[in-house]
Amino acid sequence: MIIAVDGPAASGKGTIARALARHYALPHLDTGLLYRAVGQALLAAGGDLDDEAAALAACAFDDALLADPALRSEAAGAAASKVSAHPLVRAALVQRQRDFANQPGGAVLDGRDIGTVIAPDADVKLFVKATPTVRARRRHTEMSRAGSTMSFDRILADIRERDRRDMMRATAPLRQADDALVLDTSFLDVNAAIHRAIDLVERKR
Ligand code: C5P
Repeated sequence: MIIAVDGPAASGKGTIARALARHYALPHLDTGLLYRAVGQALLAAGGDLDDEAAALAACAFDDALLADPALRSEAAGAAASKVSAHPLVRAALVQRQRDFANQPGGAVLDGRDIGTVIAPDADVKLFVKATPTVRARRRHTEMSRAGSTMSFDRILADIRERDRRDMMRATAPLRQADDALVLDTSFLDVNAAIHRAIDLVERKR
């Protein structure tokens, strides 16, 4: 069984994908991490995020980078959003993601274009969403706990900017697949969202 989980930043898609992977004992790939690693590798090499050739070279990042906690930062997310708009970067990472999706036994992948581009034949496609305000509040709580002093307004502005960039790009934009099931987590806590996700998968598979 292949489960595709797509949605915008801080929608809860990562948490839901991990929970589904645990529930069905499937391997899980957080595809955002790949783009975050490209952005990080590029910045470490002193490159410019808008330079497509340099971003393509950064796709050959060392896999050890995927375990770097710095990849989880907002700055890494913003850098990922920029490099992920380059068609050559997306093309360079497609096969790796498809191979993961098509391994025997299935897999859970979360990202922006899993149901539309990476695994259009996925058995179940979830599109996880929540209002920008709710997502910013979650990020703000999470970041404050981690010691950040970034304001709620700044986080909300960043989320809106990232949504805009991810939805407006020409190649593989963030878009709900026609056959995706929508899960709005705006008014659900983590446990309720996970239960709802399992429910949707059970109904569809
Ligand atoms: O999901 P996450 O916030 O870690 O993703 C970081 C950025 O990587 C996103 O804002 C998006 O621009 C990009 N991304 C993408 N396609 C994916 C996963 C992530 O373009 N499948």
